[in-house]
Amino acid sequence: MLVAVSVDSQTTMPRCGACQMPANVPASDGVGSLFQVGVIKSFSTPRGDIADLKKTPDPWGDNMATILVTGGAGFLGSHLCDRLIARGDDVLCVDNFFTGRKANIQHLIGNPRFELFRHDIVHDLFVECDQIYNLACPASPVAYQFNPIKTIKTSTIGMINMLGLAKRCRARILQASTSEVYGDPEVHPQTEDYWGYVNPLGPRSCYDEGKRIAESLCMNYHESNGVEVRIIRIFNTYGPRMDPNDGRVISNFICQALRGEPITIYGDGQQTRSFCYRDDLIEGMIRLMDNNEHIGPVNIGNPDEKTMLELAQAVIAETGSKSELKFEPLPKDDPKQRCPDITRARTWLGWEPRVPLNVGLAKTVEYYRQLLASS
Ligand SMILES: NC(=O)c1ccc[n+]([C@@H]2O[C@H](COP(=O)([O-])OP(=O)(O)OC[C@H]3O[C@@H](n4cnc5c(N)ncnc54)[C@H](O)[C@@H]3O)[C@@H](O)[C@H]2O)c1
Repeated sequence: MLVAVSVDSQTTMPRCGACQMPANVPASDGVGSLFQVGVIKSFSTPRGDIADLKKTPDPWGDNMATILVTGGAGFLGSHLCDRLIARGDDVLCVDNFFTGRKANIQHLIGNPRFELFRHDIVHDLFVECDQIYNLACPASPVAYQFNPIKTIKTSTIGMINMLGLAKRCRARILQASTSEVYGDPEVHPQTEDYWGYVNPLGPRSCYDEGKRIAESLCMNYHESNGVEVRIIRIFNTYGPRMDPNDGRVISNFICQALRGEPITIYGDGQQTRSFCYRDDLIEGMIRLMDNNEHIGPVNIGNPDEKTMLELAQAVIAETGSKSELKFEPLPKDDPKQRCPDITRARTWLGWEPRVPLNVGLAKTVEYYRQLLASS
């Protein structure tokens, strides 16, 4: 078969124009992931035992892993792509751009380590990879309640598709779960062995129950099919690249303060949340993925609990705003208290948050200041 051959700009390795395999490798030998370097899979083909090829020098000339990040154009996903590329991995970013934005990954376009697919994980995806970070799912209540059935599909059909892909590629998969699996908790702070208190019929159930099913699917694929899974339960995380209109409390407060609008407090403002800066969160996520002993679930969040009133005051102080507070009724099923017990993260991963709220807020305020000035 005649194939066009190009020369890879980084490695000067001649590549096949059709499939981007090295040109000296037959294009149709059915070995699939063999040259997605990092982990060479030990399985057999009609041509012999793939394990023999471990002896072959890496054709790309380096040892990066190929990592699929679903939801990679979102707030957390785009920062994860940055971190993985910075450490030398090859990143496949998949996103349907429901809440993700091209602006979040614009700086990565053209980077030879980065590939972007517009794809919805509710549909089959055939790629080769060594690890999968499954972040695809709208995260803010406004976004996940916009089309609740789609949210459930993403956490169920999408999760099955990603677990099936992990099984086929023998890739390790990390599921970005959430503190919402604890619902409106009766145990405080929340430990991972608490089963939660979720209203299965309420407006948040498409997200909460979807994420609970996703965890269940992970455990079942692990136990029945030996898929290597990892589960983190993310507590409120904030930082630059959060969508200013997604209705999450930090983006709401900061944007209202910067515009000089009243800051909306739901209820009496005594309900609590704990806020983790995005760099800390990404560090915890990568540590769990790369941990060879523990599956999870592991809470990743900041145990420094704040009331909504305290948060509003911190935002006013950081922005220098003259905004007043405006009180509105609490939305249905809004949790009153949320705080992670991070003993597991400390002992299993040696992880704890390092960025104090005032430092993280300053960086986030600066981001929104520039964003609002340019829009
Ligand atoms: N940020 C937080 O505080 C927080 C807390 C708990 C859990 N999480 C979880 O972390 C993950 C990332 O959250 P985020 O804050 O970055 O949210 P985000 O909305 O910014 O990112 C989600 C990304 O997934 C994409 N997406 C949604 N449905 C998809 C689908 N069917 N197929 C492909 N792409 C799809 C969106 O377009 C977006 O880019 C989510 O799974 C969320 O549930 C986040």
